[in-house]
Amino acid sequence: MNIEAIRADFPMLAKGNAPIYFDNACTSLKPINVIDAINSYYYTYSGCSGRSMHHIAKKTEERFELARGNIANFVNARQEEVIFTKNTTEAINLVANSIVFQADKKNIVTTIMEHHSAYLPFYELCKRRRIELDTVHDINSLKEWSQKITKETALVVTHAINNTLGTGPDLKEITNLAHQNNALILVDGAQSVPHALTNFKRNDIDFLAFSGHKMLGPTGIGCLVSKTGLMEDLNPFIVGGGTIEEAKSDKVKYLNAPHKFEGGIQNYAGAIGLSAAVDYLKKIGMGYIEAYEKRLIAETEKRASEIDNLIIYGNFEDKKSAIFTFNIKDVEPHQVTIMLDKMKKICTRSGVFCAQPAMEFLGAPNGAVRASLYFYNTFEELDIFFNCLETVAKTLRG
Ligand code: ALA
Repeated sequence: MNIEAIRADFPMLAKGNAPIYFDNACTSLKPINVIDAINSYYYTYSGCSGRSMHHIAKKTEERFELARGNIANFVNARQEEVIFTKNTTEAINLVANSIVFQADKKNIVTTIMEHHSAYLPFYELCKRRRIELDTVHDINSLKEWSQKITKETALVVTHAINNTLGTGPDLKEITNLAHQNNALILVDGAQSVPHALTNFKRNDIDFLAFSGHKMLGPTGIGCLVSKTGLMEDLNPFIVGGGTIEEAKSDKVKYLNAPHKFEGGIQNYAGAIGLSAAVDYLKKIGMGYIEAYEKRLIAETEKRASEIDNLIIYGNFEDKKSAIFTFNIKDVEPHQVTIMLDKMKKICTRSGVFCAQPAMEFLGAPNGAVRASLYFYNTFEELDIFFNCLETVAKTLRG
């Protein structure tokens, strides 16, 4: 794959003034075909779907549903299993607010490594109802998972790849454990769908949430993928126009999913833009992206070992995406990111990454620095990053 040709597709990476963009776990850059698809909606057919009968509305509807089908196909789900949401956060909140628990179910099992978007909806749910929230600390310990997931477990909530380290549990084993105990499983795919091949059907996942903007798509669009039968059991979440078959003063009949969950005018440009992002990822190939990120992280491991006074979080051999999280001993993380940015426009993120329990567990309660790479990053950029990091470490430690 020609990296220069790939980079030429991203206006933000235009030659001459390009940043070294290592904040992809936060949000990715957007290729021109995504920007064009969004513009095309606003320039040529900016109607609404599922309501009006005129030709503009019909074109919007056709493109919106085509986008749903294309995105479903990308994660190997059925078109009607994809609910459009604002982002992963909204998708997970949908499940937390709509799920109906059987009377004999008493707990939800999650992990210490979850993003706040997966942790807080269930923290709130458990606080309000008589349900326990049990937390797995060692995500690689099947023993710990099997002790926590029992016949009393209603739902297992886990990331596929976490945003702090780029590691993740064995989803197949955990899904099996959940189902053996008659529990459902919700997978936060925000960091995995952009970086690794996702197979909703084969993995037998019940709910999968992800965001468009981390996978080349626009902000403000995400998906909840849910097995069809389960969707019908969920209570409506955001209700309003577009969700009902019939609304009388004494009786309301909702549409079938996914439309039952898509209240109000939707983010059509967002969905169409995300579909274009999926086209781009398919063109590159998820296998290629996984393999390329493995090479980037192997080089990262080698270069990191040459720098004094680095505290590195997580094991390189466990990484499923190119996320490198570290601190410089006795140096405040924001100072490092600001200096990297000033030196060579290197964009990294510092702080607790919206995953405070995880960062406390990892021994970095005051945060760390994270460099998160994607398939358009280069080995030359890594070289510049490590040269600068060496200077930063020497300068800030005096
Ligand atoms: N989840 C995003 C991150 O990790 C915002 O940076």
